[in-house]
Amino acid sequence: MAELDTDKAVELLNRILEQELAGVVRYTHYSLLVFGYNRIPIVAWLREQAGESLMHAQQAGEMITHLGAYPSLAIGPLLDSHQHDIGTILRESLETEGKALALYKALLALVEGHSVMLEEYARQMVHAEELHAGEVDKMLRRPGEVAAFRSGAA
Ligand SMILES: [Fe+2]
Repeated sequence: MAELDTDKAVELLNRILEQELAGVVRYTHYSLLVFGYNRIPIVAWLREQAGESLMHAQQAGEMITHLGAYPSLAIGPLLDSHQHDIGTILRESLETEGKALALYKALLALVEGHSVMLEEYARQMVHAEELHAGEVDKMLRRPGEVAAFRSGAA
């Protein structure tokens, strides 16, 4: 098996860690700003996403230390659009989750054929993030509308 470019893998893993940590903050922030009749299930869903992002950040961090490298203490970019209707929250979430998915795909391309462990990890994460993006896409469709909100989610 050809040698793995550990430095590049660690760099991508650190960006994933930062992106997932930003997700924890973003979902928690949004969960505090949901009002109206549907508040309870939406708050619960957003907090579940915050928990999942934290788990993903921890997994990326474990991979970094497995490789004997130092995990970043930074956090990915956060912007507050001050738009708190559910549609905007979901569209922003789809966009930022798309960035995490791109990082996982870049990691998969880098490690493929070089590390079974990292390849399995990256593949599982692409699977999880694509399912997640698909779920958000379905939430953005109008009832009775089957076509994907964003074709890129497929
Ligand atoms: Fe994630």
